[in-house]
Amino acid sequence: MLSRSALVACAFLALIVNVQAQGGPPPGPLPPPPVPPGNPITAAKTNLGKVLFWDEQMSSTNTTACGSCHVFEHGGSDPRTSNATAHPGPDGLFGGADDVFGSPGVPRTEADGAYSLSTFFRLGTQVTGRKAPSVINAAYVPTTFWDGRANPTFVDPQTNQVVLPGGASLESQIVEPPVSDVEMGHVGTNWATISAKIAASTPLRLSPSIPAQLTTWIAGRTYPQLFQEAFGSPDVTGARIALAIATYERVLFTNQAPFDQVLAGNPQALTPQENAGFQIFNTQGRCNICHAGPRLTNDSFRYIGVRPQNDDLGRFNVTGNAADRGRMKVPSLRNVELRAPYFHTGRFGTLEDIVAFYNRGGDFNAPNKDPNILPLGLSPQQRADLVAFLRRPLTDPRVANQQAPFDHPALNQSSPRVPQTFGVGTAGTDGFVPHIVAVEPAYVGNPRFTVALDGACAGKGTILAFSETSVPGGVLFNGMRTYLDFGGPLTVRRLGQLPGAGPGTGFGSGSIAIPNDPLLIGRPFYAQAYVFDVTPGVRFAATEAVTLMRF
Ligand code: HEC
Ligand code: HEC
Repeated sequence: MLSRSALVACAFLALIVNVQAQGGPPPGPLPPPPVPPGNPITAAKTNLGKVLFWDEQMSSTNTTACGSCHVFEHGGSDPRTSNATAHPGPDGLFGGADDVFGSPGVPRTEADGAYSLSTFFRLGTQVTGRKAPSVINAAYVPTTFWDGRANPTFVDPQTNQVVLPGGASLESQIVEPPVSDVEMGHVGTNWATISAKIAASTPLRLSPSIPAQLTTWIAGRTYPQLFQEAFGSPDVTGARIALAIATYERVLFTNQAPFDQVLAGNPQALTPQENAGFQIFNTQGRCNICHAGPRLTNDSFRYIGVRPQNDDLGRFNVTGNAADRGRMKVPSLRNVELRAPYFHTGRFGTLEDIVAFYNRGGDFNAPNKDPNILPLGLSPQQRADLVAFLRRPLTDPRVANQQAPFDHPALNQSSPRVPQTFGVGTAGTDGFVPHIVAVEPAYVGNPRFTVALDGACAGKGTILAFSETSVPGGVLFNGMRTYLDFGGPLTVRRLGQLPGAGPGTGFGSGSIAIPNDPLLIGRPFYAQAYVFDVTPGVRFAATEAVTLMRF
């Protein structure tokens, strides 16, 4: 049996050989990511980028920030989807083996705030067709996204002028999600609309808690004042938003993992089991062929048999080369233990699952499947060692502990202020019970707070009612159970006859302005929708009710 130091020396040598074979820098702790000369890092831009990245007002519905899908304590990726909220995948059916555990974005909404039907998700939160890769260490990635489609040349999304001629894949990436009507935007939104909205918003208005350092920097200023400090003039534009967020992302790199001590020449930083795993990673496991160098990626695109090749053509969509069908970017493995579920489909829940996948040579085949993905013959002990290497050694404790630079404003959508439904609905035609869809934050001064309903009988007249007071337990009124106190102040929105096609498919939405009155802060109000859907003994069908907390 090899001694511990011999094992360590072997693994370390393999890494050096590997790093040099890749033509990369010699081992040493991970150097900071490259910075395009046209967008130098400044403290003001970094702070502004941090504010914007965590501001849910960047989305049309005020429900989704960049940080909603890129969760730092989960390694900068997204742990949120489950079987209940998956993307149906290429077959368009939920519950199949091709479902994708992507990221929940926004409900489908129109420019006037009205909710509209999404094919797969109806009025609910839509889910992306790929899982979010990490923003942490993304600043090193030459062409971001799983298929590398974010161009290193950054073009101003409003003027089409080239802003940065190279090294700016991050900036190019940032201008996509806010205009996506699945991730953050309303249908047909654009950067003029988004910039104008941000310019008129109070920075981080929705965050329930902001790190002291950032509050001190914001100092009660408006967005135009923050842009003034970062860019020298108060204009809020799409390009500047991208420049600021990219600057913030360039400080989000992790070079304090035990693996960095190994790179600095201290192999004793790993336990014997972790070292054994590192050895397997570099030899029998063949992992280092793709997960190479100090970031554990060579930034290439490979098809490794995670799913049938044509389910997502990946890199092919960018290059059009047949050899690129199904190829996805090799991700860095730093902080990977925090990032479950794994792969661009999110189909594997644990690192043990991943190692078992590689050990059986992947799950699907295609002519361009990488020849290094083949049965590995690893023993249970070797697999356990490999997993041990993927865990603690690659994790920067600052990420898991949310220490600077990974501290951040809290999100409203993760707070108790999120609308809460209560009570039960009353069934209409054919027994369908309509339900309320309420996700938006009820902050005072919100000019257009919107609540929707779905599952009603199409074609029936409908009323959405908001009340200052509720009736706990509800009362029977015209055959339906109502939870609103009809004796108190009521605001009513007539939604007219609901669109849809028959019982159970009627939907609609209504908006009200919430007065900008500080006295309302901390006071709840309530909403419920009533559908004029006559069935024996019942004059109205109704949704359950919802509590809306003003803040
Ligand atoms: C609704 C969830 C969601 C939101 C909101 C979101 N992202 Fe993402 N992000 C994703 C998904 C999914 C991908 C992968 C998409 C793909 O590859 O096609 C991604 C990819 C990325 C990448 C590429 C990382 C890499 O290694 O290739 C970066 C960087 C990133 N997002 C940053 C941001 C920023 C900045 C914002 C805000 C402007 C943002 N994201 C908003 C889900 C989201
Ligand atoms: C031929 C290149 C290649 C080899 C060899 C390889 N990988 Fe990967 N690895 C990839 C690619 C490409 C992905 C992304 C695949 C996807 O999502 O479709 C990936 C993804 C991963 C992930 C998931 C990361 C995440 O954020 O979802 C882990 C963990 C991983 N690899 C570990 C390993 C280990 C351990 C080995 C060795 C047993 C290995 N890889 C061998 C190319 C490779």
